[in-house]
Amino acid sequence: MDQLNRRQWLRRAGLAGAATLAGNWAAIAGPAAGKRRGNLVNEDSLIRLNANENPYGPSQKVKEAMMEAFEVACRYPFPWQQELTEKLAKKEGVTPEHIVVTAGSVEGLRISGLVYNWQGGEVVAADPTFQALLNYAEQFGAYIHRVPLDGLSHDLDAMERRITSNTRLVFICNPNNPTGTILSADQLRDFCSSVSRRTVTFVDEAYYDYIGEPGYPSMVELVKDNMNVIVSRTFSKAYGLAGMRIGYLITRPDIARRLQSARAAFNNVAGLFGAMAALEDEAFYRESLKKNEESQQVIYQAIKRLNLLHARSHGNFVFFQTGRDINVLAEEMRRENVLIGRSFPPLTTWCRLSTGTLEDTKQACRALEKVLGG
Ligand SMILES: Cc1ncc(COP(=O)(O)O)c(C=O)c1O
Repeated sequence: MDQLNRRQWLRRAGLAGAATLAGNWAAIAGPAAGKRRGNLVNEDSLIRLNANENPYGPSQKVKEAMMEAFEVACRYPFPWQQELTEKLAKKEGVTPEHIVVTAGSVEGLRISGLVYNWQGGEVVAADPTFQALLNYAEQFGAYIHRVPLDGLSHDLDAMERRITSNTRLVFICNPNNPTGTILSADQLRDFCSSVSRRTVTFVDEAYYDYIGEPGYPSMVELVKDNMNVIVSRTFSKAYGLAGMRIGYLITRPDIARRLQSARAAFNNVAGLFGAMAALEDEAFYRESLKKNEESQQVIYQAIKRLNLLHARSHGNFVFFQTGRDINVLAEEMRRENVLIGRSFPPLTTWCRLSTGTLEDTKQACRALEKVLGG
């Protein structure tokens, strides 16, 4: 097999595997990526602003740590899984028994949806929001109460009204994907502590690192108070390690044990080494947040020139009203070499645009202005 054929074959094989294993993810990811372009892996020079990835990662230090991991690739990953667990416990101010390291936070979301709903049950969540837990629980027979957003924010009163004795879990995504909005600190605390007295409360904090408000609380504080709360975090966003699949849950030890026993696989050593190095690379972490903000400003300026409605985002993306069917807009942007987020019914005219490198974001915004303005 020559170089090109092998690459083409791998690309096809990768896509087929992703479609089977990850369902929607294949559609979200778009055509597979290959050769490097600057810091962004991208064979066909598409600008991929559709999956809320961090194109600056991983840092050089993290890459070196992952290379080192190949020296122990013949070993099972347990010692390093334990080492990462201990480092995460220290970071979050809890014990290692409160931490479940998972294959991306999606695994944590899925096992939580499964463990609490496999014998039937109900989940209450906002709509639209991140679907991983909901879709998985649904496959195992759960009924999902999808509660429309109030504007672009969770309607907490309406969500609370939907809780019944059959409710097994309430899901809050904060910051919310796709809207990028956050709840006020008081609303969040009050809702989670009141609801967790009745049922498990799952708080997806994938974008917590990007929250711009100083002192904004993580719901890990309720876990520390021994409440019925599960928090998920990830190395895929601010740390730029989406491809290495490392996330984690922080929850009470009794819940952590239940969830741990539902895991289907282990993490690989390269991901574990990478995550540990990422925790120590403070400079990259800070730079990553700064770069995200710069690209967000570029998007805000473009949508201001286009006079479009948008929400202030606390993620690595911006959500704005285009007035056009998003599937049509996606096609038009694809012709300009830019991938944008999928449609999020019922907000089918709103676009979720991820932040890319500054250069890619500028190019995407020029394309957006051409398509929408022209
Ligand atoms: C809210 C939210 N949670 C979780 C994830 C999944 O991230 P991971 O790569 O950790 O599985 C995403 C990915 O975009 C997300 O938007």
